[in-house]
Amino acid sequence: MGRLVDGFGRRFRYLRLSLTEVCNFRCTYCLPDGFRKTGPLDFISPLEAERVVRAFADMGVGKVRLTGGEPSVRRDLTHIIARTSAVPGVDKVCITTNGWNLQRQIDGWHEAGLTNLNVSIDSLDPEGFRRITGHDRLGSVIAGLDRALERGMPAVKVNGVLLRDTAASGFDAFAEFVRERPVAVRFIELMRTGDNAEFFADQHVPGAVLTDWLATRGWTRRERELDDGPAVEFVHPDYAGRIGLIAPYAPGFCDSCNRLRVTARGQLRLCLFGELGVNLKDLLEKDEPEALRARIVAALAGKPAGHRLHEANSGDTRQLAQFGG
Ligand code: GTP
Ligand code: 5AD
Ligand code: SF4
Repeated sequence: MGRLVDGFGRRFRYLRLSLTEVCNFRCTYCLPDGFRKTGPLDFISPLEAERVVRAFADMGVGKVRLTGGEPSVRRDLTHIIARTSAVPGVDKVCITTNGWNLQRQIDGWHEAGLTNLNVSIDSLDPEGFRRITGHDRLGSVIAGLDRALERGMPAVKVNGVLLRDTAASGFDAFAEFVRERPVAVRFIELMRTGDNAEFFADQHVPGAVLTDWLATRGWTRRERELDDGPAVEFVHPDYAGRIGLIAPYAPGFCDSCNRLRVTARGQLRLCLFGELGVNLKDLLEKDEPEALRARIVAALAGKPAGHRLHEANSGDTRQLAQFGG
């Protein structure tokens, strides 16, 4: 069966599957006014999700990340984790969550086959966390993350968006956070989307703010591993965890792109920015694995070299909640 390789020789073993556009947080950089419905909420069903995962797994994808919106707003999430984990060839079942339901649900997710957990925490100051997300929930999010560690979840990461308001003062707290915890904290350089242009102009700081901070404190770059994505990570002998940077504006960021996306509405997206989707929905509603694989392979030939984040109008990406970041 075909392998997923694009016109630039990049190999794709990683699928990000969005399960919903709905989110219950109101992050300042993403959905400051909260989620607004723009169409029927008829998102991908567990059967359709399994068909997508099978098609990609048949073509060499072993890592599947369930995203949103916030995936845990779906009541059938644990069931979808179990179905994903049962697909032959899938060895990593990952989730990216805002942590809302983590403390209550992590046991069930782990038992269903979840292997990798990424939790968004933009500030370790409870008041800062509340200001950014609209929810006073930092304690419960951290308790959920610690529960995952206690259970021996193979990989636990934290994502934090780099913001002018929190960056400089926050690094010390995050370093302390990973002193004993074997967790990778990755800071994401704020990306300008259709909906956050003004916020971006006010709050964007370049990733160098972090890398300079790390360099003066003895953190060194970790060797890249096969199948690593665009994130770079740093290690320090005194710390159990790692600190990383996802810097989409850095030159060459897209050269190591290793992921494809399918949205909750069944659209294949070749890049987070600047691309319209390729519809898969009609094929997901039926049992047509061959046609599905053929459409994915044909679309991949058109994957661009890089995102169009540098352009004033970067396509139809209004917020990352739409496509699962
Ligand atoms: P790992 O699988 O643990 O390495 O995580 P990941 O970085 O693939 O997934 P995660 O959902 O934790 O990603 C963190 C964030 O990085 C995303 O939500 C985006 O904001 C950003 N990001 C991930 N992939 C891309 C990408 O292809 N392009 C851009 N510009 N940003 C991305
Ligand atoms: N820029 C950078 N990161 C973003 N995220 C959402 N929107 C943006 C943006 N505009 C991050 C979230 C979460 C991950 C899924 O994507 O904070 O950590
Ligand atoms: Fe929700 Fe994630 Fe957007 Fe925050 S960044 S509003 S948690 S989708």
